[in-house]
Amino acid sequence: MLNSKIEKAINNQINAEIYSSYLYVSMGMYFESADMSGAAKWMNAQAQEELVHAEKFMNYVNERGGRVVLEAIEKPPVEWKSGLATFEAALDHERKVSSLINELVSLARSENDYMTDNFLQWFVSEQVEEEASAGEVVRKMRLAGESGGGRFMIDKELGLRVFTPPAALQE
Ligand code: FEO
Repeated sequence: MLNSKIEKAINNQINAEIYSSYLYVSMGMYFESADMSGAAKWMNAQAQEELVHAEKFMNYVNERGGRVVLEAIEKPPVEWKSGLATFEAALDHERKVSSLINELVSLARSENDYMTDNFLQWFVSEQVEEEASAGEVVRKMRLAGESGGGRFMIDKELGLRVFTPPAALQE
């Protein structure tokens, strides 16, 4: 059974994961409007991944006999200054999510809830990947600078991303 503090904190995280999805959909729509369909596709895959994260938390709450309570999702930003600024915002966002996961781990440990601590370790590793993938695009976009050719190549590469739920997410 989950204690109420942990149940509330995971419910907040479910909201944060769904917000992340909403944010990436919004970033994808920005890229559509900027004729960067590859980056839009990347964001779409990222948005789907975030919903899988939310689902993973929801399944866990249910498994532990808790209650998932959905709250309103905040409106995400709709405009960014450039493609680079959008990915910088995505990287910033992932760093914030990593802090939230770290806080959850600290809470689980202070409450002696080692099952939740163990469950959260998947997200600790996932955040390494989340920060790395947004960071990689930021670095490439910085290198390409204002070059139209460079930006075209990056957009093409980003368009190769497809959403495939990792086996670990399908448990
Ligand atoms: Fe669900 Fe991008 O962290």
